[in-house]
Amino acid sequence: MRRLCLAVACVLLITVAVRANGSNSTPAVTAQAATTQKPAPAPTPAQAKPAPIQPGYVGSAECLVCHDQEEKLKGTPHWQALNPRSPMATHGCESCHGPGKPHIDDENKGNIRKFKQMKAEEISGTCLSCHNRGNHVGWDGSAHEARNLSCTTCHSVHSPKSFEKQLTKPTETALCATCHKVQVTKTERAVAHMPVREGKMACSSCHNPHGSINNVKALRNGSSVVESCTTCHAEMRGPVLWPHAPVQESCASCHDPHGSSNDRMLVVRMPMLCQRCHVATRHPASIYDNNAITVNKSNRMFGRSCVNCHSNIHGSNHPSGQFFMR
Ligand code: HEC
Ligand code: HEC
Ligand code: HEC
Ligand code: HEC
Ligand code: HEC
Ligand code: HEC
Ligand code: HEC
Ligand code: HEC
Ligand code: HEC
Ligand code: HEC
Repeated sequence: MRRLCLAVACVLLITVAVRANGSNSTPAVTAQAATTQKPAPAPTPAQAKPAPIQPGYVGSAECLVCHDQEEKLKGTPHWQALNPRSPMATHGCESCHGPGKPHIDDENKGNIRKFKQMKAEEISGTCLSCHNRGNHVGWDGSAHEARNLSCTTCHSVHSPKSFEKQLTKPTETALCATCHKVQVTKTERAVAHMPVREGKMACSSCHNPHGSINNVKALRNGSSVVESCTTCHAEMRGPVLWPHAPVQESCASCHDPHGSSNDRMLVVRMPMLCQRCHVATRHPASIYDNNAITVNKSNRMFGRSCVNCHSNIHGSNHPSGQFFMR
């Protein structure tokens, strides 16, 4: 509880600081926009110079005459004149909304890209004209693209609700929860992936919401579930002398990566977890084996779990044999 209070206090402090910063820098930015030429002491002045206005374009200053949108963009990455790739350094408003001349000439004020009326594909196409590299190369063909989500489903350029990354919801988890309630509620279960609920990890630690080019389920790293998990849990990566087949196949055959009600996020409780596959072993395998509990009082079953003996269940390097005992 105290930690939570502390965290909230910190966030408040930071917000206040940032606000203060924003208002301080206001005159500087407006001055710059007005002269459109003289950048502050920039490392390379050539970079900071806005591109010359091209035919069909009118320049952001024109738009601002009627649309009071600059306040909202100020301080965001899209309004950084010093970043040569930002809209501010290229066509300003028109980098996203398209050449504005027809709009200004139009009595009815049409002829401009109105994102709220556009198809998902057209919206994303606009953003992808700049954001088509790195994390975003997997967008085309991703589950989100295929199901008609667009960049503006999750991001808002003018009125973001989040502190970072211009999300349409205050936090990433809240954003994902609008559609993926099952996975998000699992993170609230008794045994969840430890730092996710606590906020040190997020859905995007494992997933890339923009899709993945070489992995399943939009996983961010590696090319399989195992590779994705072992980017952090390197001790499970192997290779080992005695591998356990299901561990090589997928960590998710035993663990629910989002959380479960069982110890260690196991999908099923012990010993049933093992018994889903090991229906018959040389020693009694399950409570359904003849007299296992009542007559034989099998130490393999009674009050114990399989991993008490088979403790190196992810694979073993010990020369003594293949049963994962040590
Ligand atoms: C002479 C005033 C004027 C200028 C200059 C102007 N607009 Fe508009 N714009 C309007 C009016 C009026 C509307 C229609 C009313 C509305 O929806 O706000 C409009 C509508 C829009 C819309 C659609 C808003 C919506 O609700 O979806 C966008 C986007 C837009 N303008 C962008 C621009 C951009 C970018 C520029 C600069 C290239 C620009 N405008 C210049 C007056 C202007
Ligand atoms: C990085 C792309 C981008 C830039 C730059 C940009 N816009 Fe927008 N604009 C959008 C998107 C996307 C929307 C849809 C609402 C949203 O996501 O916030 C939008 C919505 C609007 C609207 C509709 C009103 C609203 O809030 O929904 C107006 C008017 C507008 N923009 C004008 C401008 C003006 C004027 C500028 C320049 C000062 C500008 N835009 C710069 C992407 C951009
Ligand atoms: C003219 C190029 C351009 C266009 C078009 C553009 N962006 Fe950006 N965007 C940038 C640049 C430059 C940055 C700064 C970060 C970087 O260098 O990648 C940025 C940053 C962002 C960020 C990160 C914000 C943060 O706080 O870290 C988001 C989210 C984003 N853009 C979304 C969008 C969306 C959504 C659209 C389409 C409506 C869009 N962008 C269109 C150039 C562009
Ligand atoms: C399902 C929700 C969702 C959709 C759809 C989405 N994003 Fe994002 N985006 C996020 C989240 C969450 C983050 C922060 C975590 C991260 O960096 O992956 C983010 C981060 C970003 C960033 C900043 C970090 C970086 O990777 O450079 C940019 C830029 C961005 N998105 C652009 C886009 C563009 C462009 C599109 C459309 C092609 C898009 N996003 C579609 C959720 C989404
Ligand atoms: C507007 C709704 C919406 C939002 C918000 C959303 N998703 Fe999705 N997501 C979908 C849909 C629809 C699918 C496709 C489901 C299907 O085909 O069964 C999907 C699929 C996925 C998949 C499976 C990908 C695959 O290849 O099978 C993952 C992982 C995922 N989303 C993660 C996220 C994360 C992380 C966030 C938050 C940053 C998020 N989603 C936000 C709608 C959404
Ligand atoms: C520790 C890594 C990890 C984290 C954190 C994580 N996921 Fe996943 N997620 C996975 C893996 C691995 C799979 C594939 C599971 C499988 O193959 O059975 C998956 C699958 C999914 C799917 C697809 C489900 C299906 O059956 O197709 C969705 C949707 C999803 N995750 C959403 C989320 C959301 C939302 C969050 C944040 C609350 C989140 N994930 C956090 C690792 C993670
Ligand atoms: C971004 C790094 C990261 C990724 C990726 C990741 N984990 Fe974790 N995992 C952690 C951290 C941090 C902890 C908590 C610290 C610890 O116990 O070692 C943890 C803890 C666990 C635990 C122990 C939970 C408990 O109750 O003690 C299990 C089981 C687990 N992870 C499984 C997985 C699986 C399965 C995957 C792949 C779907 C995965 N992890 C991917 C970082 C990660
Ligand atoms: C055959 C089922 C099974 C598979 C597959 C499996 N695990 Fe486990 N895992 C377990 C069991 C059982 C435990 C609990 C061990 C204990 O309590 O001693 C465990 C515990 C863990 C822990 C907690 C730390 C520890 O050593 O106790 C982590 C982290 C973990 N597994 C990660 C992974 C990763 C990563 C993968 C995929 C490479 C994976 N597991 C595949 C059964 C499995
Ligand atoms: C998803 C199915 C699956 C699950 C769950 C599973 N195993 Fe296995 N296990 C296998 C397979 C497949 C082999 C390899 C059998 C072979 O090589 O003949 C194996 C091998 C073994 C071996 C070595 C047997 C030998 O003859 O080499 C032991 C011991 C073992 N598992 C114990 C466990 C325990 C304990 C659990 C529960 C924590 C468990 N297994 C969960 C599928 C599974
Ligand atoms: C008291 C320690 C102990 C417990 C508890 C235990 N085992 Fe074993 N297990 C062994 C020993 C020792 C072996 C070596 C095989 C032999 O020599 O009979 C073995 C062998 C195995 C084998 C490989 C040999 C075969 O028969 O195919 C499997 C599979 C196995 N155990 C599964 C399980 C499962 C599943 C559980 C939980 C229901 C479990 N064990 C609980 C000690 C134990």
